[in-house]
Amino acid sequence: MKQLIKIVFAVSALLASASVIAGGNIDAGKEKSTACAACHGANGVSASPMFPTIAGQHADYMVVALQAYKTGERKNPIMQGTAAALSDEDIENLAAYYASQEGLRTLKR
Ligand code: HEC
Repeated sequence: MKQLIKIVFAVSALLASASVIAGGNIDAGKEKSTACAACHGANGVSASPMFPTIAGQHADYMVVALQAYKTGERKNPIMQGTAAALSDEDIENLAAYYASQEGLRTLKR
């Protein structure tokens, strides 16, 4: 049991220090996110009700959402065009970056 607790602590320390979330690279995602900032705001906190805040969104959810726009399963002319230009790797990286940002729940308004 003690051994198990040690392993759990070691793994969580590793996860907390790594700049990788769900397989994506946060730094690469940040670079790519300049294309998203015009609508979704700097760091993914939108200044307009027309565009959703994507900061702090769960990485897995964002991967599913972006893939769905890309395939046309989720229909939105703006996001379909945007997602079509993203590779699977770009999507993983963007999801990791936005997941690492503070979302609305943690923002003080
Ligand atoms: C020209 C404006 C615009 C740009 C640029 C843009 N988006 Fe969007 N995005 C939107 C709009 C509008 C929606 C809402 C679409 C809908 O209703 O499905 C949206 C929705 C999303 C969603 C779904 C949010 C949710 O809660 O389900 C994600 C994820 C997303 N965008 C990510 C991105 C990423 C990543 C980029 C950059 C690669 C990007 N967007 C660039 C306008 C934009």
